Amino acid sequence: MDFRGAHIISVNQFARDDVERVFAVADTMEPYAHREHFTKALEGAILGNMFFEPSTRTRVSFGCAFNLLGGHVRETTDVKASSISKGESLYDTARVISGYSDVIVMRHPQVGSVAEFAKASRVPVINGGDGPNEHPSQALLDLYTIKKELASNDTKIDGMNIAMVGDLKHGRTVHSLSQLLQLYNDIHFTLISPKELKMPKDIVGKLGDAGHTVIETDDMESGLGDNNTVYLTRIQEERFTSKLEADIYRGRFRLNQAIYTRNCQPNTVIMHPLPRDSRKDANELDNDLNQHPNLAIFRQTDNGVLVRMALFSLILDVADKVEQTASKAGWYTGSRF
Ligand code: NCD
Repeated sequence: MDFRGAHIISVNQFARDDVERVFAVADTMEPYAHREHFTKALEGAILGNMFFEPSTRTRVSFGCAFNLLGGHVRETTDVKASSISKGESLYDTARVISGYSDVIVMRHPQVGSVAEFAKASRVPVINGGDGPNEHPSQALLDLYTIKKELASNDTKIDGMNIAMVGDLKHGRTVHSLSQLLQLYNDIHFTLISPKELKMPKDIVGKLGDAGHTVIETDDMESGLGDNNTVYLTRIQEERFTSKLEADIYRGRFRLNQAIYTRNCQPNTVIMHPLPRDSRKDANELDNDLNQHPNLAIFRQTDNGVLVRMALFSLILDVADKVEQTASKAGWYTGSRF
């Protein structure tokens, strides 16, 4: 695909080559994300970061990625603080904000809303999550992380075994990640969820049609064995009609040190898009795994900056200007990476 000026709405836009192009550019962003160098490739450019649903990582890492490329970030983070609360349509909001920005990231609770917004926008729009539908940049950073983690065990994405656990019905991260993995060969998916929260049938169908193996189960311990990666998710409370309904499922599937040791391979990578629900009744990913070398959750969040920098530099066509405009960071940067 031609990234220049493109909207990024769904992982279904990508061919395998496109994904690998993003990963190759992401690799080159390390010195900037690690604060060894800074660059002015996007000096003067403005990101409209519009989040109409709660977000920490996605919003801040998109913003940081843009800042690290030298650009400015202008945020709208609350429907109540925007004219949408006065009845303004997505069309009008898109026409207006795209006059003020060079690229827009948008998160919105309705399925299809970001695609609708993009149609009216005069600048490229990246989907930061449209309700329970898709979260393409998260899928890219997840797959980028999987690739790196597996490489350190001399394993490849092709032929890998992955377990996805939790609310697979409403979880947009697993919807996007599984469809992105579909571009690779011979993936073995074990989908572990309560019967009522299974992965949507159309996605399971696509995975099967593309020649992958899919097992669906509600028995976590038997599903965990023999996987290269276990990807846990939160019960998406905000998608249920009431908190009481979400309570039925909360805490049903948990991973902790004992369960991991009993069921997983010694090098199984542990992933979660975060936030993990750490309340006692949920605790889907226990703190007793925090020091585990295979816990990749904070490598995922760090990789998010690299992947989002890559997306911006491809969409705004500055990938070759990043190094040209780079200087050494002049401030204390510590050793956080
Ligand atoms: C996820 C999301 O918003 O879909 N978080 C994220 O973007 N990293 C997952 C979640 O909220 O459970």
